[in-house]
Amino acid sequence: MSTTHACDPVLKDQRALVTGASSGIGAAIAKALAAAGAKVVVNYAGGADRAHAVVEHIRAAGGQAMAIRADVGREDEVEAMFAHMIETWGSIDILVNNAGLQKDAPLVEMSLADWQKVLDINLTGQFLCSRAAVREFLRRGVVPELSRVAGKIICMSSVHDVIPWAGHANYAASKGGVSLLMKTMAQELAPRCIRVNAISPGAIKTPINTAAWMTPEAEAELLKLIPCRRVGEPEDIARATVWLASDESDYVTGATLYVDGGMTLYPGFDQGG
Ligand code: BGC
Repeated sequence: MSTTHACDPVLKDQRALVTGASSGIGAAIAKALAAAGAKVVVNYAGGADRAHAVVEHIRAAGGQAMAIRADVGREDEVEAMFAHMIETWGSIDILVNNAGLQKDAPLVEMSLADWQKVLDINLTGQFLCSRAAVREFLRRGVVPELSRVAGKIICMSSVHDVIPWAGHANYAASKGGVSLLMKTMAQELAPRCIRVNAISPGAIKTPINTAAWMTPEAEAELLKLIPCRRVGEPEDIARATVWLASDESDYVTGATLYVDGGMTLYPGFDQGG
């Protein structure tokens, strides 16, 4: 059992790594995990300034954070990042596989390079980071003062792990892959006290999809697809991530939490306003 007191932050003293944390959903998650008491590695691949700004934000709020550069699609860089974190903070308790990108094109125009890049970051990156984290979770085992389990992994997926997405074959294939990677890891690792879950965001205001919500016209079109009639904010995803990372969700593994304002409810009919 956890020995933390009721008034302690839910992630007190835990060590988290968030990939792709220099902007958008990842930045919001890094800040929220830190606000919940975790020390946070802010991983980034490009844009060091933005990553350092996230670290400064966390520190200014009294939290602990450090930025580490690594391309999650590269095995050597992932291994070096985990070695650096474990050397500095002793271990890792929470991995958030958030890094992701889109390189959109109609199927007939999609280059192999753009197919490969999206699969490398969105899917292979989650495999490489999960493998590195799990090796450490297994080495260290459960630390009851920190958490009831040896480690938690949260995989960022998408509503497009179930909704096909014309013009985005590489992205949809990567997120479909994340879904079964997550479930398979959850099944394999549950007996070893490791929880693995996914969050599938809907349309969230981030740099990945500015074209979809930047103008009033685009936003009006987008809202037709969202029963809640609101485009999500990164903080909507961050709050769900904190819960999945904490012992509050201790009996949850292999689950996908759709944080999408109802987008996966397929509103393809008259909804009476
Ligand atoms: C994509 C966004 C898109 C949303 C809903 C996400 O996975 O990255 O660009 O707005 O799905 O379609």
